[in-house]
Amino acid sequence: MSHQVSSQPASSRQSILMCAPDYFGIDYVINPWMEGNCGKSDHALAVEQWSGLKRALETQTDVVLISPQPGLPDQVFTANAGMVLEEKVVVSRFKAPERQGEEPFFHDWFAQHDFDIAAWPADVSFEGAGDALLDRGQPVLWVGYGFRSARTTPSLLEKTFHRRTIGLQLVDPRFYHLDTCLCPLEGGYVMYFPGAFDAAGQRTIADTVPAEKLIEVDASDAEQFCCNAVDLNRQVFMNGASEALQARLREAGFTPGITPLSEFMKAGGSAKCLTLKLREELIFSAN
Ligand code: ARG
Repeated sequence: MSHQVSSQPASSRQSILMCAPDYFGIDYVINPWMEGNCGKSDHALAVEQWSGLKRALETQTDVVLISPQPGLPDQVFTANAGMVLEEKVVVSRFKAPERQGEEPFFHDWFAQHDFDIAAWPADVSFEGAGDALLDRGQPVLWVGYGFRSARTTPSLLEKTFHRRTIGLQLVDPRFYHLDTCLCPLEGGYVMYFPGAFDAAGQRTIADTVPAEKLIEVDASDAEQFCCNAVDLNRQVFMNGASEALQARLREAGFTPGITPLSEFMKAGGSAKCLTLKLREELIFSAN
């Protein structure tokens, strides 16, 4: 696969990395969602749900696959492979030893697909697009830290990508990655759950995003991982959202696409975690 600029319309240029759930399971506990769920995901259902998400995404984009590896049950969550911007990638350095075995496989995949692999200090944890999200309305990179990615991540990413970076400290262990509680959407909308951030973070979000573009969600929507959504061409694919939130999204010009992912929720992930956009800059500049 090449990730060169193409002359196709923006809608067909994006490409998403996924990993089939062959070895997915809940084998350990590294976030609150996994507690009490070891061995409890239904494999056949997980495969069906993952395939449902893939099919939904393929109506909008290309999906490319990395080979799943035995013994790495969380490798399905490719959002954590790294953070891509233009041709460059920072490959993740996982905080939990349980996931560190994924690093060489993601590293090799990016190398084989001609990405420019940026230097990153070995002792600074960073979990890729789980914690680093491009705004879709302004040249801003939102970066979550506190649970998985280190406090120094925002300034290191700013130096690496030469982008204005806004660090947000995550304070609720259930929302341990930024992509579980904040989702930048086309046109500069930002859907987020305020309770996942401290007062300073909430202020920063409110000061950065125009009020009419802030879509605040409540705890019950956040708990069904509505913010863990994949936005493609104004379609917003997610595990679940209340009628009220779906109406709010429609009013803003989006089409919610509900694609149930209960088995992955038991591992603390859903739609967005299962994907990694490989052509971020092109989509941003198309807005
Ligand atoms: N069990 C995985 C972990 O705790 C879930 C990862 C979810 N990924 C994400 N981008 N939020 O690391």
